[in-house]
Amino acid sequence: MRVCVIGTGYVGLVTGVCLSQIGHNVICIDNNEDKVKLMKAGQTPIYEPGLSELMQSCMTAGRLEFTVDLEYGVQNSDILFIAVGTPALPNGESDTRYVEAVARGIGTHLNDGYKVIVNKSTVPIGSGDWVRMIVLDGVAERQKTLVGAGGGGDETTEITAQFDVVSNPEFLREGSAVYDTFNPDRIVLGSNSKKALEMMQQLYQPLVDRTFAEDQNLPPVPLVLTDLNSAEMIKYAANSFLATKISFVNEIANICDRVGADVTQVAKGIGLDSRIGTKFLQAGLGWGGSCFPKDVSALIHTADDYGYDAELLKAAVSVNQRQRLIIIEKLQHELKILKGKVVGLLGLTFKPDTDDMRDAPALDLIEQLNRLGAKVKAYDPIVSQSGMSSGLSHVIVETDPERLADGCDALVLVTDWKQFAHLDYGKLATLVNTKIIIDGRNYLDREAAEAAGFRYVGIGH
Ligand code: UDX
Repeated sequence: MRVCVIGTGYVGLVTGVCLSQIGHNVICIDNNEDKVKLMKAGQTPIYEPGLSELMQSCMTAGRLEFTVDLEYGVQNSDILFIAVGTPALPNGESDTRYVEAVARGIGTHLNDGYKVIVNKSTVPIGSGDWVRMIVLDGVAERQKTLVGAGGGGDETTEITAQFDVVSNPEFLREGSAVYDTFNPDRIVLGSNSKKALEMMQQLYQPLVDRTFAEDQNLPPVPLVLTDLNSAEMIKYAANSFLATKISFVNEIANICDRVGADVTQVAKGIGLDSRIGTKFLQAGLGWGGSCFPKDVSALIHTADDYGYDAELLKAAVSVNQRQRLIIIEKLQHELKILKGKVVGLLGLTFKPDTDDMRDAPALDLIEQLNRLGAKVKAYDPIVSQSGMSSGLSHVIVETDPERLADGCDALVLVTDWKQFAHLDYGKLATLVNTKIIIDGRNYLDREAAEAAGFRYVGIGH
């Protein structure tokens, strides 16, 4: 099938590349010329394991191209994905201006033939109908310019726009986005048009059949076919549930700390109940990233628009905000006064295997430590090497863990990067003044850290 993906951010690029890999002809569009140049040269603007290899092979096979030309993309495709960002506004509402601009742009370039317009961006509930309206506005604008250009009532200038809108939320995690796309738990498609849903099913058939999955013997991937609003709600509800699950276990961890229980054992004990499940029960310094904070706030905001106070979701957010600063409490308990102390952060990104710093707990931690007069150093396997550190203020980014440890009063594990499990903690302990390590992800081997000479402090552990 002929597919166009508009917006080559995280979601758009992964979607475009993976759809090309399963056999479709894909045009990826971005209005950032530098980014398009980079991608045309076979380079990915984001860090995602496996993505650049896949992108290069699809380009070589002639099934994937990049351009800034929206008209070209719209007119040469049957399915158009809108995958531009919907960042949170200061009040928590999503900023849909990029979706609006793209929908209008699609309208002004629609040519003959039926097209499916897919909302892949996480948009407020009700956006499906709104996108339809904006596309039609775009069509009307083009009609006006044609008439203004002297077409008059001539039927050659009459534009017939035949399209339907589908909501197709994505559930991919950063760091395993390619894997998640080929091994989905389910595919959600929402539309009020049967024809559009049929075309989408055809598009995803290779994924439903698990042709590209790690385990091809599993039963077909369940398709969840819904109306537009329900599909949009599924995305918010899934992310809000997962975020709340983490806040729940963090609250349990804080109570464990007080009563002397171990949250890692508690999580195992409750998670084995199949109604609860073991995943997303890892206590730590809280959730961050580009999705959870934005989506939970947007759902709270939507509920508020309808006069409903989403108390449980608000509590999940406030537990998360407090959780980020639990590390400060623990440092104060160990070191007493933080003014004049040096704290070394192991990890900066909001989770491992990504270069994403959006809403990373490390940012709040750095700010608070600075406010309390501590000096902050950090080492992160990706941020330290990528030159991204230039964007970070009030933190000295070191190039390796030993330089980080040198002269610190305490180390804090912020991100559970795999390589942190295998550092030479014996050597690091000789470099840290007060041999304290706060494990913000309950990730390290406590016994090994203690054998290396550290005093180990976990989160409810
Ligand atoms: C998330 C959803 O998982 C994905 O389905 C959606 O499409 C986008 O948002 P992502 O933001 O990539 O994906 O991160 P995820 O792996 O879900 O982790 C989110 C945050 O929760 C991270 O900060 C992580 O460290 C934290 N987390 C996760 C925990 O603190 N404990 C856990 O048990 C799991």
